[in-house]
Amino acid sequence: MPSRKLGIDCRSSCICVYQVIEEPANYKLLSEEPSRTLQEVEGDTYFDGVSLEKIANEIGTPTYLYSAKSLMKQYRELEAAFRRVDSKIFYSVKANSNVNIISLLKQLNSGFDIVSGGELHRVIAAGGDPRATIFSGVGKSVSEIDLALKVGIDCFNIESAPELDRIIERSRVLGKKPDISVRINPDIDALTHPYISTGLKENKFGVDQVSALQLFKSAQASMYVELVGIDAHIGSQMGSEKPLIDSLLRLLQFAGELEAQGIQLKHLNIGGGFGVPYKDEKIFPLQKFAMAVEKIMNGTGKQLRIEPGRYLTANAGLLLTRVEYLKKDNNGKHFAITDAAMNDLIRPALYDAWHQVWPVNPQTESLSKDWDIVGPICESADFLAKNRNLSLYEGGLLAVLSAGAYGMSLASNYNSRNRAAEVLIENGNARLIRRRETIEDQLALEIIKE
Ligand code: LLP
Repeated sequence: MPSRKLGIDCRSSCICVYQVIEEPANYKLLSEEPSRTLQEVEGDTYFDGVSLEKIANEIGTPTYLYSAKSLMKQYRELEAAFRRVDSKIFYSVKANSNVNIISLLKQLNSGFDIVSGGELHRVIAAGGDPRATIFSGVGKSVSEIDLALKVGIDCFNIESAPELDRIIERSRVLGKKPDISVRINPDIDALTHPYISTGLKENKFGVDQVSALQLFKSAQASMYVELVGIDAHIGSQMGSEKPLIDSLLRLLQFAGELEAQGIQLKHLNIGGGFGVPYKDEKIFPLQKFAMAVEKIMNGTGKQLRIEPGRYLTANAGLLLTRVEYLKKDNNGKHFAITDAAMNDLIRPALYDAWHQVWPVNPQTESLSKDWDIVGPICESADFLAKNRNLSLYEGGLLAVLSAGAYGMSLASNYNSRNRAAEVLIENGNARLIRRRETIEDQLALEIIKE
């Protein structure tokens, strides 16, 4: 049975998001790059060796699917790129916080970047080492700080003077002396969507360099914290390495100025933000970036730290959904209404993000039209994709691609919808890693008057 060619047009930008398959399909052989590969075998689409139709029939829809192979490949690529630099990867748990994903990364020897007590609990539940965990975020509560102090994390990334005061106080009370780093706001434009830009002075993150100096001095003077690093995270989904290099140079320069004042740091942390292809964006030039980093870092005697999230998980996941209704020629518009909605994947509504939508089992007789692919939620922002020329039919399955990062982790119960199930594919086997929520799960927390 010949396989269908799956791919997007890569003539102009030369970014093939999906590998084009020429040969009769043998998915086991062809799954070298599962993150970028869907295959058709006898009219059915496979993801990393697993039939999407089978998953939909057994688990239902909407369902998130993740490929362990793809995730591991991305991790190893990143690790290899920085092999000549004293460096450490801390996976940013917020991108995809399923315990099984954290556990996979733990097996790869990743550290973790967390922003809440909840994420710290997840790292621990996954068997991850709290001592390989960095705690970022602007609003750490007393209970979150206490938890981190008690389990003993790698480092707190401090974002303000009152936060430093609070950590010093809690450390004194609990008799601890944690390592800390100070997050700088370098006022560098990450050249990305404004909602995911974090290194400009109008953003709430980090401290400006003048205030930072004072913070470093206070930290140095305290007997309750150990000053070890400086960090920044300027934004997400960056297509160019330049803003990150500028940020690293800024950190290094600052570390030099501190050294002149007798403050020695052990690490520089540039955060995450490495962009991935969703459509035809410029791919983040990892090799070029790593070579530039090598030149900057080697000889400094300091460790480089990175906190990637999206780079590891985005293209390792997809959201499987079924078309409920086709609403054709409605004021000249065509709407395909799916069982997945903005509560499952909010990125299109929130950032106008583009995700490839792939019909899983197309029927040649269905007419192609320009569809808006929308969910059942009562909001006009409830769309997964707009204006896609596809052949669709009611009951057909769609795979919304590149949904492994900031998909399920941003899901909600809006419109009292149960959150989707999650499935992990490992060595050709699909395993349910989160069951579909039920209405009983939702109601369990509500207190009904007797
Ligand atoms: N480190 C810190 C301190 C962060 O705030 C973030 C992400 C990361 C690392 C990881 O960034 P990444 O490598 O994934 O770009 N919901 C948005 C993305 C928000 C990113 C928030 N911070 C989206 O769906 O595009």
